[in-house]
Amino acid sequence: MREEKHQHRAVILWFTGLSGSGKTTLAFALEKKLYEMGCETFVLDGDNMRRGLSKDLGFDQMDRQENIRRIGEVAKLFLEAGHIVMTAFISPYRTDRLMVREQVKEGDFIEIYCNASLDVCELRDVKGLYKKAREGLISNFTGISDTYEVPDSPEIELHTAEESVDASVKKILDYLIEKHVFLNR
Ligand code: ADX
Repeated sequence: MREEKHQHRAVILWFTGLSGSGKTTLAFALEKKLYEMGCETFVLDGDNMRRGLSKDLGFDQMDRQENIRRIGEVAKLFLEAGHIVMTAFISPYRTDRLMVREQVKEGDFIEIYCNASLDVCELRDVKGLYKKAREGLISNFTGISDTYEVPDSPEIELHTAEESVDASVKKILDYLIEKHVFLNR
């Protein structure tokens, strides 16, 4: 009934990629478009999750797993509320992403890999954290002292170093149209 009311299906758009690969930027750019289209949307990212619900967690493997588990649970609630929910977290481990995917209906979990090389992300170093990680001031830093497991078969792969934000957003919208996420369109 909610999907009918909102005139779109509820899905989780799960952005994954290195720090600085464009996840948050793209999630909010996409949200703006979806909002203009009249969709019910929400973005979960480090600002609202790691400062709140996951405030007690750090970055070792167990804490990241727990972080992703919590995000998955919150995303599921938004799904039940009929929203298009976007999550923007590194989510570096395959099993953690799979765990969330397996908890929802097939087609409701759309993995979006923001593929930008470590070189590019490190050069951007928006938050200055790569430099600190290289200096040994931050441990378990993804890409430097911790692994990022590249998605095997993401529904969407974006080359964020080469294509514009608009082009990436269009790719996602085209995918959603193709999968009939928007009803009566
Ligand atoms: S995740 O691995 O649990 O998905 P999440 O996306 O929530 O990570 O947080 C990543 C952000 O936290 C990075 O963009 C960066 O700003 C910051 N950060 C702080 N310490 C680390 C670390 N050791 N590894 C990666 N990111 C870190």
